Amino acid sequence: MMPGTSRPCSFLCPGVWILTIVLAGAGGEQVLCPDVPRLTGPPGPPGIPGPPGFPGPPGPPGIPGAPGIPGPMGPPGPPGVPGPSAPPKSAFSAKVGKSYPVPNQPIGFQNILYNEQQVFDESSGIFTCQIPGVYYCTYNLEGHQNSHMILARNGPEVKASDQKTSDAYENLSQSEILQLEKGDRVWLDAEEAYDGIREGSYFFCFLIYDS
Ligand SMILES: *[C@@H]1O[C@H](CO)[C@@H](O)[C@H](O)[C@H]1NC(C)=O
Repeated sequence: MMPGTSRPCSFLCPGVWILTIVLAGAGGEQVLCPDVPRLTGPPGPPGIPGPPGFPGPPGPPGIPGAPGIPGPMGPPGPPGVPGPSAPPKSAFSAKVGKSYPVPNQPIGFQNILYNEQQVFDESSGIFTCQIPGVYYCTYNLEGHQNSHMILARNGPEVKASDQKTSDAYENLSQSEILQLEKGDRVWLDAEEAYDGIREGSYFFCFLIYDS
C-alpha cells in the first residue's frame, strides 16, 4: 500500500473493521483503510423544464387618456313625417272707395283692406265663395235718406239687412252667418230708395269652418 492512497478506516471499509478494533485496542496504532475506488458516476442529464407558473393578478388601472377628436358628420336623417295640413283660408275686407256709388247694383268696395285669396272682386263688389263652408259676413253702411240695403246671395233673396235709414245719415250694421257652396256670390246692394252711401262704409266676410 502506498502512503498517499491510505486514509483512516471507516465504516466504508467493513472488511477491515473488526481487525481495526482489535489492533487499536492492542497497540493504539492508526489503521489505514485500503484504497477503495470511488463510486461517483458522471452527472446526469438536465431535468425537463417544469410547468409554467400561474399568471399574476391584474395591475391597477392606468390614468384616463385625453379626449379624442370629434368624429365625422353623420349622414342626413330620413325625411320627416308631414305635419298637420294647414286649415283652409278665405277672407276679405274692403271699404267703399268713394261716396255715392250707383244704386240698384252691387256696391263697389274699391278700398281693399284684405283679399289674400282673391275671393272679392273689387270692381264688381262681389265676393265669390271658393271654399264651401260656413262664413261670417258683416258690414256697416253709412247711408242717407231712406237708403235700403240688402245683403244679396246669388240674387236679392238673402236680405240679411233689409234696413232703411231715416232722413239723416245713419249707420246700418248687420252681421250674418251664411252657409255657402263653391261659386256662391255675395254682395251688398242699395235698393231704389238709395240716396247715398259714404266712403268708410265697409264689408267683410271670413270662413269660420269648411264643410
Ligand atoms: C258711422 O260710423 C262711422 C265709423 O264708426 C263713423 O265715423 C260715422 O260718424 C258714423 N255715421 C253716423 C251718421 O253716425
